[in-house]
Amino acid sequence: MALSTLEPDSPEMQKKIWRIYRDYFDAAEKKRRWNMTTDIPWDQCNPGVDPALADVVQTFCMIELFLPDYLSKQLPQVRKSKGRAWMLASWGYEESKHSMVLNDWLLRAGHRTEEQLQDMEDGVFEKEWTLRYNDPLATVVYTMVQEVATRVNYRNLRRAAGGHCPALDKVLELVQIDEAAHGHFFRQLVSVFLEEHREATLERIRLVLNTFGMPADHLLADGRRRIAAVKELKIFDEGNYLNDVVTPLLTQLGLTRADIRGKKMHVAK
Ligand SMILES: [Fe+2]
Ligand SMILES: [Fe+2]
Repeated sequence: MALSTLEPDSPEMQKKIWRIYRDYFDAAEKKRRWNMTTDIPWDQCNPGVDPALADVVQTFCMIELFLPDYLSKQLPQVRKSKGRAWMLASWGYEESKHSMVLNDWLLRAGHRTEEQLQDMEDGVFEKEWTLRYNDPLATVVYTMVQEVATRVNYRNLRRAAGGHCPALDKVLELVQIDEAAHGHFFRQLVSVFLEEHREATLERIRLVLNTFGMPADHLLADGRRRIAAVKELKIFDEGNYLNDVVTPLLTQLGLTRADIRGKKMHVAK
């Protein structure tokens, strides 16, 4: 079933999106930048963290490592939209810190050796993340959902870790704040599309919400086991998806469940 086609972004939309990006960027520069060397209490690493939790840190690090694919597949779709292209550049910088800081914690807290981390990286780069939807607007909607879900994952991992390792606690706090900002940006972007192309955007929201899956599922060689561990530790499951991702997103977008249910998808002729 094909999605309806969309006109290119109008100049008014481009302006709105650029404004959203500038607000995002200015706020990030002012309030959110953090330094991997000086902002983490690296002298307070606890090697006694539950190995199962440390393994989830590795899972999240692995997902963050697909950054070259996230950027190289999405940028070509948005290169004519300055706001969206510049956002991907900023977003990529912020995401690049996430895999680095998680990697550093695993090493400094003694949960992994350099050799193990190298093996992890080599394994990750053997696979390639691909766009889930061959449609730029569906990709924006997917990214919005993915960012909100990612934030919930980090928040719940931080809760599960319980502050026993001050270094890990700070790492997860900083990363989680970044992820919340990413989710907020992409939600604003989806709101602009809802204003301009309501039916086409609803169609994508319906599609994505009903088919969403976190990337670990098919990307990581042992993805199934890793997702099971995340569920087991009560970090993220279907309940979190519905209650912490779908419900708040629908409310913030001014939508109801009726908006995403029961309508037939438009079939392009
Ligand atoms: Fe991230
Ligand atoms: Fe993110």
